[in-house]
Amino acid sequence: MPSLLKFAAPRGLKVSRAEGQYVWDSSGRRYLDFHTGHGAGFLGHRNKYVITRLRSQMETVNCLSPIFDSDILEEALKSLGRILPSHLGHVFFMNSGSEAVELALKIARKRSGRKVYASFTGGFHGRTMAALSVTHNQRYRQGFEPFPGNTLFLPFNSVEALKSIDETVAAVIVEPVQGEGGVHIASREFMRALEERCREVGAYLIVDEVQAGFGRTGLVWSHLEHGVRPDILVAGKSIGGGFPVSFAAFSDEIASRVEEGEHGSTHGGNPLALAAVVGGVEALERESVPETAARIGEVLASQLREVAAEAGGVVREVRGKGLMIGVELKLRVAPIITRLQESGLLALRSGLIVLRILPPYLITEGDVEFFISVLRTVLHQSIEGGVR
Ligand SMILES: Cc1ncc(COP(=O)(O)O)c(C=O)c1O
Repeated sequence: MPSLLKFAAPRGLKVSRAEGQYVWDSSGRRYLDFHTGHGAGFLGHRNKYVITRLRSQMETVNCLSPIFDSDILEEALKSLGRILPSHLGHVFFMNSGSEAVELALKIARKRSGRKVYASFTGGFHGRTMAALSVTHNQRYRQGFEPFPGNTLFLPFNSVEALKSIDETVAAVIVEPVQGEGGVHIASREFMRALEERCREVGAYLIVDEVQAGFGRTGLVWSHLEHGVRPDILVAGKSIGGGFPVSFAAFSDEIASRVEEGEHGSTHGGNPLALAAVVGGVEALERESVPETAARIGEVLASQLREVAAEAGGVVREVRGKGLMIGVELKLRVAPIITRLQESGLLALRSGLIVLRILPPYLITEGDVEFFISVLRTVLHQSIEGGVR
């Protein structure tokens, strides 16, 4: 039996069942899941709309390229048509966030005839070579140079720094709420100035909503609150309720110049993935997912701020939007995550000191209470035990 390559430290937990906001280990112990498969399970484990669509699709066509028409392709396009900004009327389906970023960067380069990308400090866009080239964290980049494009990294949220984006830049890629980079929120002023600068110099604006999108921050797409119009929108993670699927959506201007053979994907647009998207959008609409995330996210954030105020100065800041929340600590977060897990709670981190929580939209106030009481205890134990 081959072993699994360990690019990340194993969590030492064997999960045998998952439902809604919970998973169970092989001994039957229940865990509240605020990790949700790196945020992909935002609609809850085994979401009923997604499961129903997947089941019925399994009975018809399971493998078909989207160069062939099908009912499920029509339905998926119709579903996205209801939730995408109206100026982004063209989509291509893929399997992961990185692949969708990759396509966005590829197309921007060819259309613009330029080779430089701009991205931001703390930005994370994936692990494939072009996606990595616009990802800031040196720990992920080290040893993989040279990258396919030169990237100008500018300080996130600095309007002043946007002046460095010039006529050599093919595209600027930005997360409206940075996930991996520590849950930092782009300001409205920054997002609007960025759009304006892109227009001035003729650079494409790529908005990466792989983590923040699909309702998690309280809006279907988190950039909408700033009123900006991306040329390309990239989505993945939760759009298929945990099923691996992603897409890039393009403006007419870009789509009108697409040439045959420029891109392709064997599994991209697989009928099961499309069924998952149809079920995902159904859940989003019928369960008022963005509004629910905004409401319960506010409850969670305000209780976290209370914990922060009490926690003996070990919490530096609580920040986030909806159900994308980061708790920046003054101590290393890895032991905290281990202790939370020992107490029945799954969470993740952003870097070395930020506890990142990506709960599913359907958590209850009871779940919030449980999370807060466990975190309070773990932080107190950490202070007493001198974990710093
Ligand atoms: C904002 C953002 N973009 C892109 C990616 C890459 O997505 P994937 O891991 O599905 O390739 C991620 C993954 O965490 C992400 O958070």
